[in-house]
Amino acid sequence: MSKDLESFDTTTTYRTVSKDYAVAAEEFWGFISDETIAHLDLRAGLRVLDLCCGPGPMTLRLAERVGSGGCVEAVDVLEEMRTLTRERAAQRGFAHVIVREGDIDALPEGDASFDIVNCSLGLYFARDMARSLASFWSYVRPGGTLAVTTIGPRLFDPVRPVFFEACEAELPGVGTYLPWTRTDDPDVVLSLFEQAGIPGAVVSTDRRAIRLASPQAWWPIVHGSGLRQLQEELGEAAGDRVRRRCEAWIEQNGVTGINVETLRLIATKPR
Ligand SMILES: C[S@@+](CC[C@H](N)C(=O)[O-])C[C@H]1O[C@@H](n2cnc3c(N)ncnc32)[C@H](O)[C@@H]1O
Repeated sequence: MSKDLESFDTTTTYRTVSKDYAVAAEEFWGFISDETIAHLDLRAGLRVLDLCCGPGPMTLRLAERVGSGGCVEAVDVLEEMRTLTRERAAQRGFAHVIVREGDIDALPEGDASFDIVNCSLGLYFARDMARSLASFWSYVRPGGTLAVTTIGPRLFDPVRPVFFEACEAELPGVGTYLPWTRTDDPDVVLSLFEQAGIPGAVVSTDRRAIRLASPQAWWPIVHGSGLRQLQEELGEAAGDRVRRRCEAWIEQNGVTGINVETLRLIATKPR
């Protein structure tokens, strides 16, 4: 398995997946956003920065909590994601959501003005994660909060190894570098916070099973997640064989849920 972040084409993957990700983020793993929201002290009127906003699962939840007297600035590197967030915020009448282009590898120094800075399921795309974390911290006001959510180990077990074996059988060497494995260990993420000069981060983990209502429920998860890169690389015919192999295995083994663990790190800036 390649260990090279560059081997995962983040731009093409999330550009291709954007609309399906928006659906999956609500239908399958909206609970990740809900759990992060539950960890934050959200009140009307707060100013929040949502980095790597994607199609806005966190942006919309944050906007609802801070209300029209607050503000949520949502940032993503991809236009497709920004458009979805903008449209979904407009559909809800959230005029207090501002969507901007931004790259977490190259954020300008912040002005320490945000009550909360959030980055959900995005840190692991940064080339230098400690440097990006330090830049996130520069946007947090004294007394404010930085919240980072990442994916824990064993994502999508027990189906994941079956899926990868089937992919490998179809196309040996198919890109299997998964950026989220860079931050699936709480000690590693805590040490990144320390390297970034962020003191006192509190780490918590949540372990859930996403319900698979039927064997056919697996493929929309591939189709609507970062695994989409493999589906695209396999092409239609091989992708179809992989899908059928996974569905048969899920059926034979009576699997009705897949593992999703999340890690949350929350740090409060000293006043
Ligand atoms: C897995 S999605 C997470 C979306 C959302 N935050 C959520 O909780 O579901 C990752 C997002 O990070 C964005 N992204 C990846 N690399 C980035 C970068 N260097 N700077 C800003 N956004 C980036 C992608 O475009 C994508 O929208």
